[in-house]
Amino acid sequence: MSDSKTAYRYYAYARQALVEALRLANVLAGDEVLVPALICKDVLSSIHTVGANPVFYQVDKTLAPVSLPHTPLIKAVIAVNYFGFPQDLEIFSEYCHKFSVKLIEDNAHGYLSANVDGVLLGNRAPLGITSIRKTIRIPDGARLHVSDPQLSELLPYQLSFNDKPLGARYFLQNIFSRLERATRLPLLRWVRSIVRLRRFLSTGEFISTSSTLAETEVVVPVGPRDSSMKKIQKLDEEVEVKRRTDLYERVNSAVSNSGIKPVHGRLPEHCTPYGFPFFGDLEGAKNVRRLVNSFGVEVIRWPDLPEAVLADAPDHYSNLWFVNFL
Ligand SMILES: Cc1ncc(COP(=O)(O)O)c(C=O)c1O
Repeated sequence: MSDSKTAYRYYAYARQALVEALRLANVLAGDEVLVPALICKDVLSSIHTVGANPVFYQVDKTLAPVSLPHTPLIKAVIAVNYFGFPQDLEIFSEYCHKFSVKLIEDNAHGYLSANVDGVLLGNRAPLGITSIRKTIRIPDGARLHVSDPQLSELLPYQLSFNDKPLGARYFLQNIFSRLERATRLPLLRWVRSIVRLRRFLSTGEFISTSSTLAETEVVVPVGPRDSSMKKIQKLDEEVEVKRRTDLYERVNSAVSNSGIKPVHGRLPEHCTPYGFPFFGDLEGAKNVRRLVNSFGVEVIRWPDLPEAVLADAPDHYSNLWFVNFL
């Protein structure tokens, strides 16, 4: 799926595409970027890389902004299509128009997803980013979307694709994932448990917690693997869209009496979900895990919140989970 009015550049990771988006938005050292407090640390690393500082806005339980604060140093605003669901951009566009700042549509979660008018997510703002590797099982692959013709003229050349192979990890994960879907046994989960046990034995931690350092890591944009790009080109998009929308309905009905609260009442038209987001405590998440056990999917808490947000985070930031459809 593409849009002829939008120019694309491909990167290994979406955080790299975001660095380029911030540069195109003319965000300079000492400037500020308005970003949702419900965000992962990787996004902060991109802001840090251009020498800017984050200013957080809060989101409500529908994951829409409560209000958008303003300071004279804010040069760009990030709106997130959480879990591939289209964020309503109206309030963001009004803000950007009023204060002459650039809107960046963070569509890391929404490859193949579109809004109710069928407009591909990531293409609805002057600048957008998508992490394709979150939707297709590939080691890298992300893109920058530039829909503003003036900014398109400033676009750097495509960085060269590298010739690294997909790698053993990719092949193993792919084989396990296919076997899992065929046999309905949670093979990938068992492999992950073994990896976590090994990690625990060597580090004392089951899950590798991304440290504060992840927020201040310097992000260097590089091109993706040529082999990943070939996988993206070969994807049967229609089949993948159907697989995801069907899975959403199956999970939705499987968990209907489990005590958790889905973030969204229903799947909007043309939305291709990254997963099934829900609010719940640990017990609720375990229930969901049990109910979707045979679907070949994983239940994950998201996001690993930035340190500055963690201390005062409302419950709906800490109790957010999703069934990952990868
Ligand atoms: C909302 C959001 N934006 C951007 C990113 C960065 O994507 P990538 O891991 O491809 O750099 C993530 C990663 O989890 C994300 O959740």
